[in-house]
Amino acid sequence: MVERKNPDPCRDQDWGLFEIKHRDGAARIGRLHSKHGIITTPMLLPVINPNLRTIEPREMWDKYRIEALITNSYVIWKHEELRSKAISDGIHSLLDFPGAVVTDSGTFQSYVYGDVEVGPEEIVNFQKEMGVDIGTMLDVFGRPDMTREQLERAVEETADRSTPSLTISGEEMLLNGPIQGGTHADLRAKSALLMGSAESSGRGFAVHPIGGIVPLMEQQRYQELFEILLASKSNLPPDRPVHFFGCGHPMLFPMAIALGVDMFDSAAYAIFARDDRILTPEGTVKLSEILEWPFNSHALFGLTPQEVRDMDADDRSTILAKHNLEVTQSELAKCREAIRNGSIWQLAEKRSHASPYLREAFLWLQEQLEDPDDGPVGDSVLRMIASTNPLRDGGEELGDEIEFRPHVLHIQALLATRWRVPGSWWDSSTGPPERVLIIEGAPPPWRVTAMESVIEHLLEEPKTVVMVSTPVGPIPFSIEDVSPWCHLTGPEGIWDPIFEDIEILDSLVDFGLTEIPLIRAIPGEFTSVGKDVGRIREWMDRCSVVDKLALLCAINPSDGCKMTDEMTSRKSRTDRLVNVSSHGKHILSPRLTDGGISLTTTGAKIANEMNSSPIPVFGSTEKDSEFPGIPRVCIIDDAVPFVGKGRNVMHGYISGADSHLIPGQPCLVIDSTGSLIAHGIPITTHLEMSYLRKGIAVRVREGAVKQDQ
Ligand code: GUN
Repeated sequence: MVERKNPDPCRDQDWGLFEIKHRDGAARIGRLHSKHGIITTPMLLPVINPNLRTIEPREMWDKYRIEALITNSYVIWKHEELRSKAISDGIHSLLDFPGAVVTDSGTFQSYVYGDVEVGPEEIVNFQKEMGVDIGTMLDVFGRPDMTREQLERAVEETADRSTPSLTISGEEMLLNGPIQGGTHADLRAKSALLMGSAESSGRGFAVHPIGGIVPLMEQQRYQELFEILLASKSNLPPDRPVHFFGCGHPMLFPMAIALGVDMFDSAAYAIFARDDRILTPEGTVKLSEILEWPFNSHALFGLTPQEVRDMDADDRSTILAKHNLEVTQSELAKCREAIRNGSIWQLAEKRSHASPYLREAFLWLQEQLEDPDDGPVGDSVLRMIASTNPLRDGGEELGDEIEFRPHVLHIQALLATRWRVPGSWWDSSTGPPERVLIIEGAPPPWRVTAMESVIEHLLEEPKTVVMVSTPVGPIPFSIEDVSPWCHLTGPEGIWDPIFEDIEILDSLVDFGLTEIPLIRAIPGEFTSVGKDVGRIREWMDRCSVVDKLALLCAINPSDGCKMTDEMTSRKSRTDRLVNVSSHGKHILSPRLTDGGISLTTTGAKIANEMNSSPIPVFGSTEKDSEFPGIPRVCIIDDAVPFVGKGRNVMHGYISGADSHLIPGQPCLVIDSTGSLIAHGIPITTHLEMSYLRKGIAVRVREGAVKQDQ
């Protein structure tokens, strides 16, 4: 086995900080900085029983690339030999593990055995003395079968212990601050508020585990599990990782990660192995019941189930534990890749079919997404939709549940609030539309398959709103090249005109288009020529730019019209807009990958001048408006020279950000006087920007400060 280099400690100033590298809605790829290396999340902390090491921690580091593990400080504390060795040599030496070591406190033992013999302060001190990277305070386990009063007391007692625990861990050890509250959403939200704000000498908890959930997982009460998670997340500081205490079944990873879990821990890999059960991403299988492996692994490769059954008990349990750990790791890798490519929700959707209990939870989640409630769960759901980039690169498979995916819900919400009928028509007439045209039965790209028909209808009646029917509902023709609609994949039949008039009318309600005559058209053979065709095409191109500026940048369509005054453009060979200029100056380019827009610095300057909202400051409340103008991030003076030259905006250098900022869509970077410093694409939300102290906040496209200044 190749020995892997020991980790480098994080920089002193980064200790305990969490940064977000990528995100897909609430799911995030993060990095937690510890004295024994930087931990990439989402990740699993394998549970090590110091008395019974099924897989050696060193092998976990070298072979399985486990960056951090978890063991129980109470088990060590109770065992005299382990205890004195841990104090004298340190926990890393005791376990022979060079990565980060997390310890639990004995709370779980108190749940199982009724009590523990150690006090809250003593156990935190002991963890610190062992040199633990992330310790856990002694929280009070809130069982789901407790009364509300008992759960309330568990939340309060846990919160009361938090400051003394943080005082002891001090500047030497990071600390877990568990969230309790049983299945009561309001108690979870309260616990999150109390634990999230607890601090001693300016230092709070580094990680927030969601505690008290093991009984729910044992009873497969997944809907309540995810309800608890969402309720807790509504009040947790967004700059701290969230840990699902005791959750380690790969089947639960995609959904938990899609809702914002960063860390898992579990002894399942070893316990199931001892019980001759193997893990797969879709459930658990008994070794005694199979002839062939349902899921392959390095550990089992070249062996048959019968050969493994014939092994002696210890060897068998080791090899099955290795398989289980591999499956766990590979499912986490799959989830991380899904976050990077924007498909974590689809993965959760797919995995939801693994069990009827999980399916029940997923269907409940979809209901929440469609109709968020007024409480903490609804707050989290709305925040999740708003933080999801509405556009996607590349294709997306059509599925029955596509309309519940957060990115689709987000763009539908943007269309409902920010799309407007054109203010003037191609023939320069003004006034309300006379009719709405729905193009049906044609696949994308509609500028190719339906343009002639659209022009024909516009020649006939200039005051026509043109929409395209898609399996996910109608969209304005102006956003025909926006993903996912233009890249939906599925059999030919998905574009068949199958909707009844009543269904179409229903789907036009959000657009405010139900009071005018509706025309349905299947594009056929037209050959429109004549002097007006060019004029119509120019008008349509301009509508497309104005609509995208409104939807994605919150620019009022009347400002969008001013921005595109005297518009000219260059087109690609596939007839797409490539460069858009106003008065001869290049202001933006549509993004060919997803149909969004990339501003130029000239365009960013114009958008900034048009934005008359107050300069954003963290903590101040903004007025609600449908078109608050292009979202801005205001940076502190120290950062201006760097960002002005094109360097990225880093967390910790931001004094305010507009709350309607959408990760993945354009934003401006301004200074405290409102001058444009740069423009780019935000990675984090305005709330995250107000908390995070590490990592990139805005990937800058171009600095706007002249080099010689
Ligand atoms: N392990 C599993 N659940 C819990 C919990 O609620 N608290 C602690 N400290 N450890 C756990």
